[in-house]
Amino acid sequence: PVKILKNPEGSLNRSAMNGSKFAREFKEEKLKEKKESEKVNKSNSHDPLNEINKGYDDKTNNVILDWKKAQMSKNSSYGKRTSLSLKEQRESLPVYAMRSQLVQTVRDNQFVVIVGETGSGKTTQIVQYLSEEGFNLDENGNHKIIGCTQPRRVAAVSVAKRVAEEVGCNLGQEVGYTIRFEDETSSKTKIKYMTDGMLQREALNDPYMNKYSVIMLDEAHERTISTDVLFGLLKNACTKNPNLKVLVTSATLDSEKFSKFFNDCPVLTIPGRTYPVEILYTREPELDYLAAVLDSVVQIHISEPTGDILVFLTGQEEIDTCCEALYERMKVLGDTAADLVILPVYAALPAEMQTKIFEPAPPGARKVVIATNIAETSITIDGIYYVVDPGFVKINAYDAKLGMDSLIVSPISQAQANQRSGRAGRTGPGKCYRLYTETAYNNEMMANSIPEIQRQNLSHTILMLKAMGINDLLNFDFMDPPPTNTMLSALQDLYTLSALDEEGYLTKLGRKMADFPMSPPLAKTLITSVEFGCSEEILSIVAMLSVQTIFYRPKDKQNLADQRKARFHHSLGDHLTYLNVYRSWVLNKYSKDWCQDNFIQERSMRRAHEVRRQLLTIMKKYNQNIISCGSDLDKVRRALCSGFFKNSSKRDPQEGYKTVSEGTPVYLHPSSALFGKNPPYVLYHTLLLTTKEYMHCATVINPKWLAELAPTFFQVADPEKANERKKNEKIVPLFDRYAKNQDSWRLSAQNSSKR
Ligand code: CDP
Ligand code: MG
Repeated sequence: PVKILKNPEGSLNRSAMNGSKFAREFKEEKLKEKKESEKVNKSNSHDPLNEINKGYDDKTNNVILDWKKAQMSKNSSYGKRTSLSLKEQRESLPVYAMRSQLVQTVRDNQFVVIVGETGSGKTTQIVQYLSEEGFNLDENGNHKIIGCTQPRRVAAVSVAKRVAEEVGCNLGQEVGYTIRFEDETSSKTKIKYMTDGMLQREALNDPYMNKYSVIMLDEAHERTISTDVLFGLLKNACTKNPNLKVLVTSATLDSEKFSKFFNDCPVLTIPGRTYPVEILYTREPELDYLAAVLDSVVQIHISEPTGDILVFLTGQEEIDTCCEALYERMKVLGDTAADLVILPVYAALPAEMQTKIFEPAPPGARKVVIATNIAETSITIDGIYYVVDPGFVKINAYDAKLGMDSLIVSPISQAQANQRSGRAGRTGPGKCYRLYTETAYNNEMMANSIPEIQRQNLSHTILMLKAMGINDLLNFDFMDPPPTNTMLSALQDLYTLSALDEEGYLTKLGRKMADFPMSPPLAKTLITSVEFGCSEEILSIVAMLSVQTIFYRPKDKQNLADQRKARFHHSLGDHLTYLNVYRSWVLNKYSKDWCQDNFIQERSMRRAHEVRRQLLTIMKKYNQNIISCGSDLDKVRRALCSGFFKNSSKRDPQEGYKTVSEGTPVYLHPSSALFGKNPPYVLYHTLLLTTKEYMHCATVINPKWLAELAPTFFQVADPEKANERKKNEKIVPLFDRYAKNQDSWRLSAQNSSKR
């Protein structure tokens, strides 16, 4: 049911806006700008090496460094955010007027749905009210936590910081947060923000949520898999734990559906305080939405009255590129234009930048915030009068047929478009520049986005549910059940990983896998490594795989950077290259200079180190031994094979590789240690689709291992049918065993759709 436009740019074209002032031409500037943007576009053209390494760190790319530095120093001259005291700010929020009604409704009901415009104070205030009203103690005087989930890590952290400030405590004391691999809470913690994924994980050990008095499922309209699963889990927990309260908060109007799901519970609506927003569409589709964004921002800046700008883009790289290009354009404009403070906002943003986005621009300057859809509802930035919306979002989609996850850029829904434009009307009447046609809005966009659970790989989720003892997945209380095919393919994946047995019950191995907060193949690799005696090495590799980029290539020193990187290359592939890097870094005493000399991101290394430390704690908790294989690195490759056998590919006699299971053409990435060596069989960590389908992080394997380590997925081909030479190496995928049982599944699926 996922409606994805094959070519997202297809319906978009560059053209002028409908707005009158907006259409005004600034011919000379335009000409200069055009040249500039061409330069920028060229430097970003499709060099696959740059695609991976581009712009991830403020130390990597000179231009990016340049604008970030400039923005930081501009920001440092900021005054206090506003003259209102924190208390006055709190009391000026729309939710404040409903304080007593809210508290009373929560006292009287186990489930409450709360709807309110973004910025009305739901996330920061409601939990504080409940804490102030004594919800941290149960009737026996026991300490209970008020929890609040967020779909995104950044939101959980930034909100916790803000609330700690409002409460007047140190972060991690009365107010704290927990996200994967990071726990900033203590025994004193009364208000805890966390990602929905973390709470779902807690349900493994505390199914009735006994630690909590209230749990607020915030941003419920986002419908992440974890929030959707928590709907079912918490609804059930409440029948067993009558003292638990569940609040569901949402920024949009699907409240009826939520209320119905939670036994027709009351819905509280926080009256909005919004101003009209004028919506401007493009006359014709835009071919290059990034260029259109740049044009729009510059035009607004030059011709529109004061007020900050919010731009929605799809991801970190795009945002960094856009910030960089915008900075260059502003340099060209020089003194002819007022100062423009450019602020990027995305999940992986360094903490010091994150606090900057909430500060007002200095007098006479204008602020432009360039954000992912995180700024749609999770984060509210005050003072926005102009919104620029190209109409796209990056979503994680799963193709059950291909058995592959991928991040794709897809058109937003009408609901999202309206949410985005609404951001312009919080402080006064605003304007929203939609970089698509009105026809596209009416005819091409879906009314609402598809819940994640209906479009993503569910193997991790299903493993967790099975580990909670929930076997009957077709009758699990999903608000919107996932498609049967997606469930089947997840079950199939777990079965081939030996996490489930033939009947679909959790195996011992599967139960252990569920304890690790990572994808099932990674968890399997980690556990197998103990058996193979190489957990010391696999721990480092898994930690390195969990961070985004290790190496960087500054534009002016690409050759040198490549030479330095090549020193770490392992002849058997990239996983072992990562191991080399990690080992050398430790040997060099975690040295910053060493990182700089070798063009390695120090921040990534520190993060990998932290992840490794956390994984070590989990390993120890579950009595998994840490053993080193010394120089016998075949063990490491075999352990990787036990988890990632599905990601194996065979050299194609024509060109590149083909995956063993599906025969999809894939390629070694030019940055791989194996590039140009073309070993007959490799396994890879992920596929990265840029100009081609590239295997990211590839390692040489022996094809015999596939049949040996994944006997339910691969078998050695029938020798009768193979010639002598091929006899020993031909590996074929097995028949899909769950597909054999499709009929019984179909039956249950029909039943479930009748429900
Ligand atoms: O959750 P909701 O969107 O209803 O609002 P909120 O996140 O509780 O935000 C209420 C107010 O707190 C807004 O005016 C934000 O600008 C402010 N806030 C902030 O200054 N810093 C944060 N990290 C979070 C919110
Ligand atoms: Mg909120």
